[in-house]
Amino acid sequence: MIDYRPMAASPSIVVDGLRVRRGGVVVLDDLSLSVASGRVTGLLGPSGSGKTTLMRVIVGVQIVEAGSITVLGEPAGTPSLRSKVGYMTQNPAVYGDLTVRENLRYFARILDAAPDNVDEVLEMVAMAPFGDRVVNRLSGGQKARVSLATALVGNPELLVLDEPTVGLDPVLRRDLWKAFNELADSGKTLLVSSHVMDEADHCHDLLLLREGKLVATGTPASVRQQSGKQDLDEAFLALINEEVA
Ligand SMILES: Nc1ncnc2c1ncn2[C@@H]1O[C@H](COP(=O)(O)OP(=O)(O)O)[C@@H](O)[C@H]1O
Ligand SMILES: [Mg+2]
Repeated sequence: MIDYRPMAASPSIVVDGLRVRRGGVVVLDDLSLSVASGRVTGLLGPSGSGKTTLMRVIVGVQIVEAGSITVLGEPAGTPSLRSKVGYMTQNPAVYGDLTVRENLRYFARILDAAPDNVDEVLEMVAMAPFGDRVVNRLSGGQKARVSLATALVGNPELLVLDEPTVGLDPVLRRDLWKAFNELADSGKTLLVSSHVMDEADHCHDLLLLREGKLVATGTPASVRQQSGKQDLDEAFLALINEEVA
């Protein structure tokens, strides 16, 4: 692995020597990384590279074969982390027969969050006009935004968002990345996955994953510098070739 990144001062996530097997196959192998607090870290890699699996490990729902995973100073999966970590799964996890607002009120209640948060997060994901609509009658992109809102409603310290901008129109994507950056400015930590490199420039730090291994870490600028490529897609390819060579 090529590590271009300076040591984070107080990371929110520390993964050390992680190995995960799914369906008998090792899908994450000897993975070590950290995610800095108060920043937006992009977890980027092609489909099947292990992004979702790593996120499942971090939120404590994945069986781990080896390694240690510390989240906000506690072992991943510790019950006290539940209200501190917001997780948006890749497939929208919301109740289809409830309205948007009913869903959010429900999640707010489980997370012991202030009911006022519901309207705030609806604004953030640009779903305020659809608060009274039954989720089953929303488009895929709208459902994804409701799912994102459920991760935000508990006002967690750490947000783990699995491909939150997939399938959304460019304007909305830009607005969401702006919202993620504002959350980081307010002290939250965000780990956001994507399989499109276009999203990388919205992140402070990058973790580039391929076939369950880290290809590179660093800021977008340092990844460009070290690979000698301006285009981050090309940078990713160049770094893979360097590894193979
Ligand atoms: N439930 C599962 N059982 C067996 N293998 C799985 C399962 N889910 C994912 N995998 C495998 O684990 C690898 C990583 O998948 P995943 O973490 O979903 O990648 P990504 O999110 O980057 O697309 C892939 O090879 C995938 O086929
Ligand atoms: Mg995935």
